[in-house]
Amino acid sequence: MSNTEIPSGLKELLQGYTMEVLRRRPENLVEFAVQHFTQILEGQKNDLKNKKRSNRSSLKGVTFETKSNKPKKEDEEEEKEPSTTAKYNRRVSVCAEAYNPDDDEDDDAEPRVVHPKTDEQRHRLQDACRDILLFKTLEQEQFSEVLDGMFEVLVKPQDHIIDQGDDGDNFYVIEKGVYDIFVQKDGVSICVGKYDNKGSFGELALMYNTPRAATITATQEGALWGLDRATFHRLILRNNAKKRRVYEAFIECVPLLKSLELSERMQIVDVLGVRVFKDGECVLMQGDEADCFYIVESGEVKIMIKSKTKAGQQDNTEVEVARCSKGQYFGELALVTNKPRAASVYAVGETKCLVIDIQAFERLLGPCMDIMKRNISQYEEQRVALLGSRVDLKH
Ligand code: CMP
Repeated sequence: MSNTEIPSGLKELLQGYTMEVLRRRPENLVEFAVQHFTQILEGQKNDLKNKKRSNRSSLKGVTFETKSNKPKKEDEEEEKEPSTTAKYNRRVSVCAEAYNPDDDEDDDAEPRVVHPKTDEQRHRLQDACRDILLFKTLEQEQFSEVLDGMFEVLVKPQDHIIDQGDDGDNFYVIEKGVYDIFVQKDGVSICVGKYDNKGSFGELALMYNTPRAATITATQEGALWGLDRATFHRLILRNNAKKRRVYEAFIECVPLLKSLELSERMQIVDVLGVRVFKDGECVLMQGDEADCFYIVESGEVKIMIKSKTKAGQQDNTEVEVARCSKGQYFGELALVTNKPRAASVYAVGETKCLVIDIQAFERLLGPCMDIMKRNISQYEEQRVALLGSRVDLKH
């Protein structure tokens, strides 16, 4: 290329650069190169950050104002998607690559959100959050921050709290009310379950940066506690990254989960909670309604069944039918058969269990169903051998 073909600005730049290189001694050249490339990298980083910011501000409801945190009513005007079909054609499956909050320096810059509450509200909130699995592994300080960041949402029958396909704004904990879960399949909306006055929902879109995977509607008046996306990221996802590090190796070794892909096992880690039971403490009671599945992390549990008298009446003496130790699971029978708990379970020594709620069990453990059903048929034989009675384990 001849000199005349170089635009004058570029020519000056090149001349300056060459002079600078020549002026510096070799040891200074390294320093010069480091500075030069650091500037380029910084520029690229800032571009990425600005892009992220503008993407994020385009998400609905990611705001600190309570008004926009309110759930939508069915007939409420909203920013329209290009078309309904496009909305439901969006990917609703969940990828296991959790959003990693450690990658996002912006989350540290987010102001700490505090929604002031009366003592009465705080009591109700604490009660609603007592058994929320996602909060079970938080440090006390993080848990208090979560409680500070939550805001009350009152709902009316038919309110759509979440619409499948939407971007995720808030995570919700149920204080009261019954909520139906609908999932669109081949254009048809199917009711796949419900939340009955307890539990939480709306974590998936926030965890995996995916569109909402289901529609949640209120069937009656109710009350929810919302947690905004930024606070969820800062506290819950940071904690989940820690949980993955702690439980990855253990979960790999649970025989029931061996047939799952690594990414599927990680999704289980993301939603699990941990509960510790003292020696002799009741983990679950025969006849109770079931909402959780358990894996023994350490210690042991014994499974006891109340026998029946010859006349077929319930006798209150309990008979031990089995034990579960590290890596074994229990609590699946009632979830699979949709029946009350068929036995009581007690801790033997201090016992730590990983707990998964029924919605996550149904969503994530489908591929392990064959193994569980095979084991369930063995319970029947065990029960007949020990108690001489048959139990109907079918739906
Ligand atoms: P998210 O996708 O953020 O919003 C819809 C929520 O419905 C989802 O998170 C889960 O919390 C909840 N949900 C309950 N059951 C299901 C299911 N079978 N499939 C998908 N989401 C479900």
